[in-house]
Amino acid sequence: MRIAICPGSFDPITNGHLDIIRRAATLFDRVIVTVMTNMAKQYLLTEDERLEMLRLATADIPNVEVDRFGGLLAEYVKLKQATAIVKGLRAMSDFEYEFQMALTNRKLNPAAETVFLTTTADNMYLSSSLVKQVAALGGDISEFVPSSIVPYILKKFERAERA
Ligand code: PNS
Repeated sequence: MRIAICPGSFDPITNGHLDIIRRAATLFDRVIVTVMTNMAKQYLLTEDERLEMLRLATADIPNVEVDRFGGLLAEYVKLKQATAIVKGLRAMSDFEYEFQMALTNRKLNPAAETVFLTTTADNMYLSSSLVKQVAALGGDISEFVPSSIVPYILKKFERAERA
């Protein structure tokens, strides 16, 4: 059984993430989408909210499951006996950071291979932080995130506005 891990912050999941997850699901027997911690980021959504949105967005893909892990990705790969880490690559700006992470993960666990899938041209510009900015300022995010999670995000911003 070939297992792939799709790790990320998913704050929130975008159509770009979902495209990578769907394509990984055609390449591997089982795909585990895992909410992990990026210590460089401050999150808008709680871990539970990010998980719930991932579950909603991937509900129709039978070989995808959603998980969370608070430790090192290199350790998680071992724990799950995964064949590869799958990451999406947008533009050159992603490359240096992703390259550094892939090398560090392989140093920590020589069996931790990273496979990069290039984004589709449509999703090239998309990022979770842009989605949050557009949503916070009342813009239309329906083209940017899976339809199943749009109400969830709008509700979150309503709450933030009232606070
Ligand atoms: O969506 P992001 O924020 O780019 O995802 C980055 C993430 C969460 C995959 C990365 O920060 C990570 O792997 N975190 C887990 C802790 C870890 O292993 N850190 C060292 C990475 S080399």
